[in-house]
Amino acid sequence: MSRFVLALDQGTSSSRAIVFDHSGGIVAGAQQPFEQIYPQPGWVEHDPEEIWRTQLETAREAVRRAHAGPGDIAAIGITNQRETTVIWDRDGRPVHNAIVWQDRRTAPICEELRARGLEPLFRERTGLLLDPYFSGTKVRWLLDNVPGLRLRAENGELLFGTVDSWLLYRLTGAHATDYTNASRTLMYNIFERRWDDELLEALAVPRALLPAVQASSGVFGETAALGGAVPVAGIAGDQQAALFGQAAFAPGMAKNTYGTGAFLLMNVGDRPVASPSLLTTIAWGLPSGSRDEVTYALEGSVFIAGAAVQWLRDELGFFARSADCEALAASVADSDGVYVVPAFVGLGAPHWDPHARGAIVGLTRGSNRAHITRATLEAMAYQTRDVIEAVERDAGVKLTELRVDGGAAANNLLLQIQADILGREVVRPAVLETTALGAAYLAGLAVGFWADREDVSRNWRVDRRFRPQMSAERRGELYRGWQRAVERAKGWAGGG
Ligand SMILES: Nc1ncnc2c1ncn2[C@@H]1O[C@H](COP(=O)(O)OP(=O)(O)OP(=O)(O)O)[C@@H](O)[C@H]1O
Ligand SMILES: [Mg+2]
Repeated sequence: MSRFVLALDQGTSSSRAIVFDHSGGIVAGAQQPFEQIYPQPGWVEHDPEEIWRTQLETAREAVRRAHAGPGDIAAIGITNQRETTVIWDRDGRPVHNAIVWQDRRTAPICEELRARGLEPLFRERTGLLLDPYFSGTKVRWLLDNVPGLRLRAENGELLFGTVDSWLLYRLTGAHATDYTNASRTLMYNIFERRWDDELLEALAVPRALLPAVQASSGVFGETAALGGAVPVAGIAGDQQAALFGQAAFAPGMAKNTYGTGAFLLMNVGDRPVASPSLLTTIAWGLPSGSRDEVTYALEGSVFIAGAAVQWLRDELGFFARSADCEALAASVADSDGVYVVPAFVGLGAPHWDPHARGAIVGLTRGSNRAHITRATLEAMAYQTRDVIEAVERDAGVKLTELRVDGGAAANNLLLQIQADILGREVVRPAVLETTALGAAYLAGLAVGFWADREDVSRNWRVDRRFRPQMSAERRGELYRGWQRAVERAKGWAGGG
């Protein structure tokens, strides 16, 4: 009997593999960072071969550290940085670097589509908006800019996929994705659940490129990569996987993940909720009789969260390890009027300004590294409040508590600041690797390793609750300062 499930967590900054047991506990893991390629300001690429190599090596390493063999692994689940776009040929050779979700190069394509009056159509069918964030305009850019690509795509020689599909193709030879990843492409109708010909035409993307779309939990293929046949039985984009890993199965339940970016997702049930400043997206699609059952989510996507801590570490040299930011920020009582707006790649929800750029305001002669570091942690909390207010307005519900996860959620000061800025309780579960855990659950449910969602819910445990301690007056004053700071950062790269 297989004892474990293996999750492959292919993130923006690293590839991770984690072996989970039946209680949802971590048995072993391995992680490898990989190169971030910045060919021009605002452009971000990854090498698909490096993504594959680091993911395969970490998978093998995690299984080895678990003292396991392929026979011990009931199934593999894949979760991935979303929207990042790869095109490869039928021999599995990438034709270009992956264009990463953070990449802003397709802003002019978005503007062109908007000028043609197409934004309402995209919004209505995909739940997204016209922002360079999503895959569709990235595919279009590749076809328009890499010599020979469009012709080869039309001839059916090429395959497009988000990173899940890329890994699946290398692992099993199947060209497929799941509902959650499809829902981030700008090409998939999330209500009718099909690739949308009208949107494909607007984007000038040939249908022959596209993968098959399957349930997030179900067998996609078998891989021999671990030395014996193991089914790949679950796929979900990282944020949806985290929502699943937090066992947020009931409508109204929400989580916020503090990783490279910060992503708040709220389960809204089987009927999508439209929102002017947030995304409507597929939380997961699960097999149910003859037709898959789809659950929707409202999402507030904040592009830069923990990445701002990395920036303090790597570009400004404030400290050696990300975790050191907590002690430095705690060395001052407050940020002394300093605000950091980490709009390094524009602003996502709820502002959606691709021309915004980073800003530090409120500096005085006495401002120091500790104030700037503390203000960076506060920025994560303010950005989260921005999206929570939008979620509550648009979904018409009030969150009673916020479940949090992701690498930066290890930071106690950050979570206390978050509780203070929100005026709500913030709850941290015992397992912070909810992204990988969600992928493991999806895969394990498909092969009967876990019986059902109740089985999964029972595994969720609280590590610590953070209760608000700040006065309402102080909270309001600080937040108004943040809103003024954000206005200063908007439109910067547009020259306006
Ligand atoms: N103690 C900490 N305090 C604040 N930020 C932290 C801390 N530890 C890690 N981080 C930040 O959290 C991020 C890493 O978290 P995590 O591994 O969840 O990211 P991720 O988004 O999953 O990465 P990827 O995008 O590769 O998936 C980094 O940006 C890092 O700077
Ligand atoms: Mg991640």
